[in-house]
Amino acid sequence: MAVRPILRMGHSLLRAVAKPVTEDQWAALPTLVEDMLDTMRAARGVGLAAPQIGVDWRVVVFGFERSERYPDAPPIPLTILVNPVWSFLGSEEEEGWEGCLSVPGLRGWVPRAVHLRYAGWGLDRVFFEREVEGFHARVVQHECDHLDGVLYPARVRDFSRFGFIEELFPDPDQRPESD
Ligand code: NI
Repeated sequence: MAVRPILRMGHSLLRAVAKPVTEDQWAALPTLVEDMLDTMRAARGVGLAAPQIGVDWRVVVFGFERSERYPDAPPIPLTILVNPVWSFLGSEEEEGWEGCLSVPGLRGWVPRAVHLRYAGWGLDRVFFEREVEGFHARVVQHECDHLDGVLYPARVRDFSRFGFIEELFPDPDQRPESD
């Protein structure tokens, strides 16, 4: 078990395009993934990308039974995704609140594709593909954005809905999530 420090917005690795995991790097993946899961859970996040702990590989983890950060969100199966590919299904978008462990204390109102197909390799080296929608699709887009050096603030269009959570939601009961 190793909870690793999470890089914050401004660190150059969070702006870099991560590299595909190569054949000879697979042996190191179980340890990396374990650290990512430990770090994600310790921070009570719903997802984490390898660059957030300083590793420039195309690996993301996400999923939860019930999230304190997103109490109304439907569960997402715990997923480890190596070298993911993804595509939007249709042009429908919806907006929703997002936070990021690399942007602590802030929230933004972010448009995302509603319907998404994604695929990649699991830790068992089996390739799989899913079609998902809604919050599941949002989380995958958020995490995969990290692999291309994109943080959610770059997706915000309405900057009246981007800021510190205590300022956006003075009433704690109205907050969409808590840090
Ligand atoms: Ni994030």
